[in-house]
Amino acid sequence: MPRHGRTKRTRKRKRGNDPRIDLSKEIVTLSKWMKRESISLGFKWKSHLHPAFFTGIGRGMMTKDSLTGGDIVVSIPKPLLITVETVLSSEIGELVKRQKFKLSRQQILSLFLLSERSKGDNSFWYPYISVLPQSHTTFGYLSARELTLLPPKLLTAVKSKIMDIKQAYKEVRDFFPGESIAHEDFLWSWFCVNSRSVFYKLGGSEFVKEDGNHLALAPYLDLLNHSVVAQVEAGFNNETGCYEIRTLDNYKKYDQVFISYGSHDNYHLLMEYGFTLPDNPNDAVMMDYDVVLNSAKSLDVNHLEKKQDLIQQHDLHSKLTCTVEGLSWNLLIVTRILAMDWNELHQWKVVLNGDVISNRNESLSRGIARSFLTPYIQQNRDLLFKFPPESSMTTMEKLISSVVQMERKILQITWTSVS
Ligand SMILES: C[S@@+](CC[C@H](N)C(=O)[O-])C[C@H]1O[C@@H](n2cnc3c(N)ncnc32)[C@H](O)[C@@H]1O
Repeated sequence: MPRHGRTKRTRKRKRGNDPRIDLSKEIVTLSKWMKRESISLGFKWKSHLHPAFFTGIGRGMMTKDSLTGGDIVVSIPKPLLITVETVLSSEIGELVKRQKFKLSRQQILSLFLLSERSKGDNSFWYPYISVLPQSHTTFGYLSARELTLLPPKLLTAVKSKIMDIKQAYKEVRDFFPGESIAHEDFLWSWFCVNSRSVFYKLGGSEFVKEDGNHLALAPYLDLLNHSVVAQVEAGFNNETGCYEIRTLDNYKKYDQVFISYGSHDNYHLLMEYGFTLPDNPNDAVMMDYDVVLNSAKSLDVNHLEKKQDLIQQHDLHSKLTCTVEGLSWNLLIVTRILAMDWNELHQWKVVLNGDVISNRNESLSRGIARSFLTPYIQQNRDLLFKFPPESSMTTMEKLISSVVQMERKILQITWTSVS
């Protein structure tokens, strides 16, 4: 029972019970362990945070104090980070050092998590491992049916990632010929590392396959959720010997504190982290240059070769996307170039400046845009029909549906903007 008694409870009820402090045995044990180990290692235990549950998001970190930009929100001593050094100095590290072929950092950290998990409460890391999610909703968990619900571009990317993960699993199994590592267990540890690790750069190691992916697990700190607007400075501080997160935002007491995992769109967040954000400003629907060109051809535009040269010279054929703001800059200019007549082609600089060159050009460029949008809208519609009613969707189907709905919204807004 907390010491604060009735007054505090009443105040909390008035706040709508959000956040709800996480008082589970595992979280309490982790918090005590972090404090005890930090102090016994000669560090101060500094954290304004407390794990809590937030409506619509789940578990995250609440601040116990108001925070101002520049405040350090959490600081994890190096010995409590799980780095490649940690692994190399463990039993499993001895095996890693003895083997002829090398594993990547992500494979090494995944193996370590699995090995420590199998020790149960005999593992030093048990308080940390106990709070890790049991499973994930990332690409490695997609069923054959769920794969058919993905937008085509995402499906292509996911298929290639699934191959990579199969290869990573095979290498880990070959690493321990005597041991049987279940695919399910490997997926669990792989995605724990994938979705929870921080960037942590050590010097190279002769025992590590170098792939530029510098990772470490930071217990407790990895309970921080992602927001696109969060601004933080994060990294290892050589003076304090801690991995620190400094917020550049202001927070009121009891607010959820966020960090940014990067400028990711919902495709990336779903596949790598297993969640999506409503109204993610990084969301975009990619258009193929070939589809754009074919639309122009179908509308009998002339001088296509010259126009293609112009587009390529100015590198306008990449980043052809639609967003909630309509056509991206490159896509808008490409449609206007494709709509130019012979006279306008000689004044291409006007178009490249973003100015409307003529009403005729503007009208044709919008026609080209509607023409290349049509197959994408149709594809999106076909996909939406494949989903069951929301009430009977699985968690994964709901998440995929949110990205397909996001595409629908973007395509609709863009269509209206060119109509
Ligand atoms: C580094 S962990 C953050 C802590 C995590 N929520 C937990 O309770 O263990 C990353 C995972 O948190 C979840 N997550 C992070 N940010 C989120 C958000 N804005 N909305 C929903 N889930 C989020 C996703 O499951 C993600 O894979």
